[in-house]
Parts: sequence; C-alpha cells; structure tokens
Amino acid sequence: MTARQQEAEAFQDNYEKRVHMAASRITELTDGKFFEFGVVLGSGLGDLADSIENAQVIPYNRLPFFPQTTVQGHKGNLVIGELEGVPIIGLQGRKHFYEVADEPMNTGMLQTIFAVHVLAELNVPNYFVTNAAGGLNLEYDIGDIMVLKSHIHAQPNPLLGRQHNFTRVDDGEPIWRFQPMNGAYDPELTRILKEAGSEFAVHLHQGTYIAVTGPTYETEGECIAFRDGFKADAVGMSTTAEVIVARNRGMRAVGFSCITNKIAQDGTNATNHDEVKAILDSDEVKGRLERTVRQFFALYRESKS
Ligand code: HPA
Repeated sequence: MTARQQEAEAFQDNYEKRVHMAASRITELTDGKFFEFGVVLGSGLGDLADSIENAQVIPYNRLPFFPQTTVQGHKGNLVIGELEGVPIIGLQGRKHFYEVADEPMNTGMLQTIFAVHVLAELNVPNYFVTNAAGGLNLEYDIGDIMVLKSHIHAQPNPLLGRQHNFTRVDDGEPIWRFQPMNGAYDPELTRILKEAGSEFAVHLHQGTYIAVTGPTYETEGECIAFRDGFKADAVGMSTTAEVIVARNRGMRAVGFSCITNKIAQDGTNATNHDEVKAILDSDEVKGRLERTVRQFFALYRESKS
C-alpha cells in the first residue's frame, strides 16, 4: 500500500474521531459557546467576516485534521461571533469536491463535508449556505440572488460507502442510511431569507440549483439539458453535498446562490473564473449579499423573540 492509501485508510477508519477532535478544539478555543448557525461565507461573502461582531478568528490550520482550502480567493478561517445578535460560526472558505476528487477511498468527499460534521458535533442546529452560480433560468441577471428551493446533486453522494457512527443534532438518534431529501431547505428559514433578500436584491428568485463536479464550466449541450430537461435554474460546483450531510445530521438548511453569469438561450456559458471573481468582488454585489445576510439574521432574531 502506498503512503497515500495508508493515509486514506486512516482517514476513513478514524473519521468520527478526527471530526470529534476538530470540534473539541473549537469548544476549547471558544469556551464552549453555543452557535445557532453555521454560515458558509462562500464566494463573495468572505468580507462579511470582517463585520461579524465580537469576532474570534481561528485559522483552519489550527484545528486538527480540518481540511485546508486551496482555491485562490478563499481564505481558510473560522470566524466566530455574532451577526445581528445571533451567535454564529462562519466558515470562510470551503473544500470543493473538485479539489479532492482524486483522493483514494472516498476521502475526497469526506474532506468536502468534514466541516458540516464538525458543526453537527458542536450541536449547531442550522446551516446557512451561500455559493456562486451560473444563471440557467433566462429571467436571471448577473448579481441576482436565488434562494435555494431545491437542488439536483450531480456529484457522488456523500453518504455513499461506510456508514459513520454519528448522531443527529435534532433528536440524538443515530444518522439514517436512507436519508429523505424532500423539503431539504427549511420552509420557515427560507421564508425569512426571502423576506430579507426582497429588501436588498435587485431581483430575488427562488429556484433549483444543480451541483456538478466542475471544474469545467458547462457546454451548450449541458446547459440546455440542465435548463430544459432537468428544469434547473442555476448551476454551480458546491453546496449540495454539504446540505445532504446537514440534513442527515438533523440540521436545518437554508441558503442562496449569487448569480455571477448568464447562460444564453442557445446554452452558451461563456464565463470564466476571472469574470465570476470580478462580479463577486464588485462592491455593489458584495454589499447586496452582505445586507441580505445581515437582514436574515435580524429577522430571524425577531422571529424568535
Ligand atoms: N457554472 C458552474 N459553476 C459556476 C458558474 C457556472 O456557470 N458560475 C459560478 N460558478
């Protein structure tokens, strides 16, 4: 066996333990604080971390076994603090499946979802996802926000393979093998997010997100198939594996895509990484995303009081 295979086997065999160790370190470093939400500060939202109140930054490399990020423009930090008074744990940077798909024994996917398991070990009840996506729906414009209504997971399923020994956040029961995925995005949290977005987005949509592995952008044929065949509204390369695991661990999920590029009627997706980044770096788009997230937490807090 090669060293890489040995490491993969150790990663598999000790997965629960490693997740637990990473979570325990966070508990230590934060004096056992309770967090109401894990928030993925995906593309375009990295700067939101700067406005988290009472922030404590923990670089991923200070946490045992926590996967490091490799994509340019994605920092690798936990940012812990409050948004509009709601205690959150922000994930500044995520591991995409395309970064690790060549790791042996399914350990690439296990790295992609590692952070979600860590949140679940910390008993975080809610998972807020964000991502950048190409707009398949012809009514979508660049800079629009699409609240996630449903998804199509066109990647390997993160629950494939051995069943790990984890329990669910909501009822403490062992995780299920055959996880239902209906109503994956929580209706109540989604209602709040739509209300928040409608105040700040130029256009607010609700639609279906298809996650492909990437890292290629899509051909004309793929775009037409996803839009007219699958009826997907936006396409991207992240999020759905995480949401499957969040649901499997008994967490509630909610989130949105920022539309960074328009896919033409004939299926042409002429975007590239620089264009996607330029949109996400624009102060106007960033401002709208940030205000939407802040307002979500303000409304969430109101709804609880
Ligand atoms: N396709 C896939 N992923 C993306 C896109 C896209 O057009 N835009 C931003 N992320």
